[in-house]
Amino acid sequence: MSSHASPDDSPSTAARKPVTLHRLREMHAAGEKIAMLTVYDSSFARLLDEAGVDCLLVGDSLGMVLQGQSSTLPVTLEEVAYHTRSVARGNRTAWLIADLPFGSYQESREQALRSSVQLMQAGAHMVKLEGGGWSAETVRFLVERGIPVCAHLGLTPQSVHALGGYRIQGRDESSAMTLKRHAGELADAGAAMMVLELVPSTLAAEVAALNPGLMTIGIGAGPQCAGQVLVLHDMLHVTRGKLPRFVRNFMADADGIDGAVRSYVRDVKNGRFPDPQLHTY
Ligand code: KIV
Repeated sequence: MSSHASPDDSPSTAARKPVTLHRLREMHAAGEKIAMLTVYDSSFARLLDEAGVDCLLVGDSLGMVLQGQSSTLPVTLEEVAYHTRSVARGNRTAWLIADLPFGSYQESREQALRSSVQLMQAGAHMVKLEGGGWSAETVRFLVERGIPVCAHLGLTPQSVHALGGYRIQGRDESSAMTLKRHAGELADAGAAMMVLELVPSTLAAEVAALNPGLMTIGIGAGPQCAGQVLVLHDMLHVTRGKLPRFVRNFMADADGIDGAVRSYVRDVKNGRFPDPQLHTY
């Protein structure tokens, strides 16, 4: 049975050096796009790593994708740590990011540190947290203690009720200004990476231009980000129902899951995904 395959028998992962923060910064400086996907288990982690995905994200989207919840809010730190351990076992070379779930970092910098330590000990290389300027102090606190941080602005799903639903952010001038200010504060605080979710592509491009050292990772934020992320089950066409327009079904032209993931990596790298006509706002 295939589950008896040796974990160390892949020539493709043997060929790739581990993706480090230093390597990601080199890629960014050289204009090479960063390909990121969410993942929650060991088998998919291995497949994605071997297909050349640069960054694996154990997103709190696992609440919706794996658990069938209607939002990410019920996801606990222990659950993210569990899935991070699983992903870490399958991964060989990709940069591994884990989401700090709702309620695990908002209380204080110390709470954020304790939660981040738990995820780093589970195998994460970086933690991701949602939120604007208020979280800059937390980001600085974590970065000063050796924990790389990815920020997350725009549509921040943990605030879905405050935002009034899953809707585009930063459309009017005042909210765009606020987002740009928050991005600058988070970059100054030491965030190395920033997910920009569901914002107009012009705004994402401005954030990237104003913060050249910051690796912006877009999801519904246009092609001018340093990289792209999608939820794995969305791009593999496993998710049912109406999907946001920024999702492309990579299974449509692929001969299997491996091919779909490889197409995603290729099209992010060569700039064919996202398509400004189809996947952006
Ligand atoms: O939880 C998640 O999967 C995420 C991505 C959608 C960026 O935060």
